[in-house]
Amino acid sequence: MKKIVFTNDKGGVGKTTTVANLAVGLSQRGKKVMVVDMDPQADVTYALLGQRAPETRRGYLPPTIHSLLLGHYSLDQVMLEVPRYKNITLIPSNSDLAAVSMKLSSQPTRLRSILDSLHGKSPDVILIDTGKGLDPLAINAMAAANEVIVMVTPGRLELDAISRLQEHITLVRSEVLQHDSEPAMRGILLTLADHHSVTKDTIKRIRKKFPGLLFNTVIPKNNDLQKAIARSKSIFEVAPKSKGAIAYQQLLDELNL
Ligand SMILES: Nc1ncnc2c1ncn2[C@@H]1O[C@H](COP(=O)(O)OP(=O)(O)OP(=O)(O)O)[C@@H](O)[C@H]1O
Ligand SMILES: [Mg+2]
Repeated sequence: MKKIVFTNDKGGVGKTTTVANLAVGLSQRGKKVMVVDMDPQADVTYALLGQRAPETRRGYLPPTIHSLLLGHYSLDQVMLEVPRYKNITLIPSNSDLAAVSMKLSSQPTRLRSILDSLHGKSPDVILIDTGKGLDPLAINAMAAANEVIVMVTPGRLELDAISRLQEHITLVRSEVLQHDSEPAMRGILLTLADHHSVTKDTIKRIRKKFPGLLFNTVIPKNNDLQKAIARSKSIFEVAPKSKGAIAYQQLLDELNL
C-alpha cells in the first residue's frame, strides 16, 4: 500500500488541489483511496465533502483526525465513506486539529501507528494532505508515509524550500524512524506554472540541482482548477477537457499507482 504525503513548508502551493483531484482521479480508475486530512484548515475535507467536520463543543467530541490522534476514537469510527465518490474514504479534519500539534511533538510516529492498524482493510493508496509549516503535524504525516511529493510553485526561493524538505525527510528517516529507508522523496511537482520566464527558469534550476526528481508533468495555472475546488468538485467533473484535468490525468499516469 502506497502512502503518499504532499508537502511544502509554505502555503498555497496546490497541495489540497492536488490531493483532492488525484483522489477522485484514482477512484475513477477503480482504485480504493483513503485521504487523510492533516491540516487544521480542513480544505481537503471541504473539497471532498462540501463541508468541514463539526467542531468540538462541550460534551460533544466529533470523530475527526483530532480525536483519532488523541486516542478518543478508533480509525474505524473516524474513517468515513465520501458519499459522492465511490472508493474514497476520508479521515476528516477541522480547526480542533491545531490544538493537537504541540502534543504530537513527543509522538512523531502517532499517525504512522494508527495507519499501520489498517491491516486487511487497506486501501490501494493513502494520500495525506498537510498544512503550512514543518510542525509536528507535518512531521507525523511524513513519518507515516512511504513517499513524499514536494510541491513547488515557480520562483527562485523554491530551491531552498526543496533543500529544507530534503533535510527534514532525512531527519525523519534517521531520527524518528531509526534509520529506515523510507519515506523516500518520490518527486517534485511544479504547480501554478505559466508561460513566464520564471517558470522556465524554475524548471531549469530544479532539473540541475535535483536531477531526476522533477515530475515530467507540470500542473498549469488554470482557472478551472480554482473554480472546481471552490465548488467542492473535482476538475474531472467540472471541466474534464481543461488543461488542468489533462495535467492531473497525466500525473496519474506518471505516478502509476
Ligand atoms: N493549478 C492551479 N491553477 C489555478 N489555481 C490553483 C491551482 N492550484 C491551486 N490553485 C488555487 O490556489 C489556491 C491554493 O491552492 P491549494 O489550496 O491547493 O494550496 P495548498 O498548498 O493546499 O494551500 P494551504 O497551504 O493553504 O493548504 C486555491 O485557491 C486554489 O484554488
Ligand atoms: Mg491545503
